[in-house]
Amino acid sequence: MRILVTGGAGFIGSHLVRRLLASEQDSVVNLDALRYSGNLGNLADVTGHARYVFVQGDICDATTVERIVREHRIEAVINCAAETHVDRSIVEPGGFARTDVVGTGVLLEEARKAGVSRFVQVSTDEVYGSVEVGSSREDDRLDPRSPYSASKAGGDLLVRSYWATYGFPVLITRGSNTYGPNQYPEKFVPLFVTNAIDDQPLPLYGDGRYRRDWLSVFDHCGAIEHVLHHGEPGGIYNIGGGNERENIAVAGTILNHLGKPPTLLRFVQDRPGHDRRYAVDCSRLRALGWSPTVPFETGLRATVDWYRDHQEWWRKIKSGEFRAYYEQMYGKRLKDGIPCAS
Ligand code: DAU
Repeated sequence: MRILVTGGAGFIGSHLVRRLLASEQDSVVNLDALRYSGNLGNLADVTGHARYVFVQGDICDATTVERIVREHRIEAVINCAAETHVDRSIVEPGGFARTDVVGTGVLLEEARKAGVSRFVQVSTDEVYGSVEVGSSREDDRLDPRSPYSASKAGGDLLVRSYWATYGFPVLITRGSNTYGPNQYPEKFVPLFVTNAIDDQPLPLYGDGRYRRDWLSVFDHCGAIEHVLHHGEPGGIYNIGGGNERENIAVAGTILNHLGKPPTLLRFVQDRPGHDRRYAVDCSRLRALGWSPTVPFETGLRATVDWYRDHQEWWRKIKSGEFRAYYEQMYGKRLKDGIPCAS
C-alpha cells in the first residue's frame, strides 16, 4: 500500500514508519511539522530508503496535504500527528484543538476527496476519562477531562462523522500509555529514567498511586498495522498492554534497574484534573487476531537500557527548549516536594 503517515518523526510515528517499511509491500510518505517533539534523528536508519519519502509540513495545511495525497497516489492514511502531552495542554491548550481537531478535519477531507481507501486515526484511551473500576469498551461514553483528551475526543468524533455521513472507511485506535525508545522526555518513563541516570529527583504527582496500563511501542505499532489491514471500516479498537501498574511501582522498577536509591523519589504537587486510572478492554482487537507480545518488565528494562546507551539522543533534547519547560513545570514543584520515606 502507498501510505501517508502523519507525525512520523515523533515517538509512535517513527516506530510505525520503520515497521511499515519492513513489511516490503508498503511505501511510506511521512508528513511531519517537526515541532518540538518531532525528530528526524528517530528515522536516521531509513533516510534514503527507496520506499520512503519525508515531507516537512502541517496537517492543518490543506494545500500540502492535497498535493501529497495526489502526487503519491496515497491509498491509506495513518494519522499519528498530534499534540499529546497532558501537562502542556493544561498550560497552553490552544495548539491542541488546532492540531488534534482542525488538523484531523483537514486530513479527513483531503483523503475523502481523493478516494483514499483506509483512514486510521491513532487516538488514546484518555478519551474515556478516568475509570475507577472495570475497563473501557469502545462504545462507552466519552468523558475527556483535560484539554488534550478533549481535543483527541473531538478528533475522534469528526472521524466517526465521516463514516456515518460519507461512508468513508475510517478506523480509530485507542492506545494506552506507551513506552519505549525515542520517547520525548516530557513523558513519565523517559523523564524518570533520564533524571535517575543523572541522580536528579523523580517528581511523582500526588500520592503516586495513579494507575496506567503500559503498552510497548512495538506492540502499539503492531496493533495499528493490524487494524489498518484487518479492521472493520467504521470500527474503533482499544489497544492495551494488560500491564496495569501504579506510578510509584513503575518508578521503583526504573530505580532498581539503574541501581539508584528510592531517595530520589519526590512527592510533588499534583496535576490539575489528574485522571486516577485508565484501563481498556481489548477483546475486540483480540478477536481480530492481535495480542501484545512484550512482557512489561522485559520491555521496561530494554527501554531503560536504551536511554542509558543513547544519552546523546536525550541530552541534546534536555539541554534545549526543554530546560525552560522543565523549570516551568517542575521548578516550584520540586522545591516544595516531599522525599519518599524509604
Ligand atoms: O493513555 C494514553 C496516554 O498516555 C497518551 O494518549 C498520552 O499522549 C500520553 O501522554 C499518556 O498520558 P499520561 O498523562 O498518562 O502520561 P504521562 O507520561 O504524562 O504520565 C503518566 C502518569 O505519570 C500519570 O499518572 C501522571 C504521572 N506523572 C507524569 C509525569 C510527567 C508523574 O507522576 N510525574 C511526572 O513528572
